[in-house]
Amino acid sequence: MVAGAVFVPPTAEALIVDPSEVGLPLRAEALFGRACPLELELGVGKGRFALAWAQEHPDLGLLGVERARKYLDLAALRAARLGLANLRLVHTTAEDLLFRCLAEGSIAAVHVYFPDPWPKKRHHKRRFFRPDNIARLGAVMAPGALLRVKTDHAEYAGIISQLVSASGLFQAVPADEVFAPIPPTHFELKYQAQGRTVYRFAWQRRG
Ligand SMILES: C[S@@+](CC[C@H](N)C(=O)[O-])C[C@H]1O[C@@H](n2cnc3c(N)ncnc32)[C@H](O)[C@@H]1O
Repeated sequence: MVAGAVFVPPTAEALIVDPSEVGLPLRAEALFGRACPLELELGVGKGRFALAWAQEHPDLGLLGVERARKYLDLAALRAARLGLANLRLVHTTAEDLLFRCLAEGSIAAVHVYFPDPWPKKRHHKRRFFRPDNIARLGAVMAPGALLRVKTDHAEYAGIISQLVSASGLFQAVPADEVFAPIPPTHFELKYQAQGRTVYRFAWQRRG
């Protein structure tokens, strides 16, 4: 901060952005008023991970997307209380954000924690990890960008791993190292307390 300047904490409303009003494609400069690495969290829920990660890394800009308005509002309220200036939230679907709002090669890292597994076979088509979404993820991520994924659902974990590998766009990297600094999410804490297995994957965008 400039000497003598007064820090004005963001309001919850100011942290929720309408992509069309910010200008498309979304860029760190327009979102945060400065150039910085732009990271994504898809499905932020109540924001436990997003808030902790943004707070620990003031150097980066984190853009979170969540389709459930009540969770998004809660995350924004908590972020405003913390005075987080490097987090913005978008109320839409991950698919809309990826396909309509982001430029190719503009994203430095992507976090997808506990995506809805849609366990019933007739609902599998609703799953986020599908070949078209994975291809678009690869397109918006810069070469070398990390994609981190966690799920508690064994069958979905296998599908995610298989589809991401089959895309040819990503190189698997050892999970222990890249997950070491990652704070747990709300669902993760719940599942850990229940003794459930959590599957973690990390890939680097080739290129
Ligand atoms: C199982 S919860 C996990 C929330 C959080 N990541 C965590 O680990 O605590 C999945 C979240 O993703 C959101 N979600 C599911 N599909 C989505 C989509 N296509 N676009 C955006 N959000 C989505 C849901 O509303 C829900 O908040």
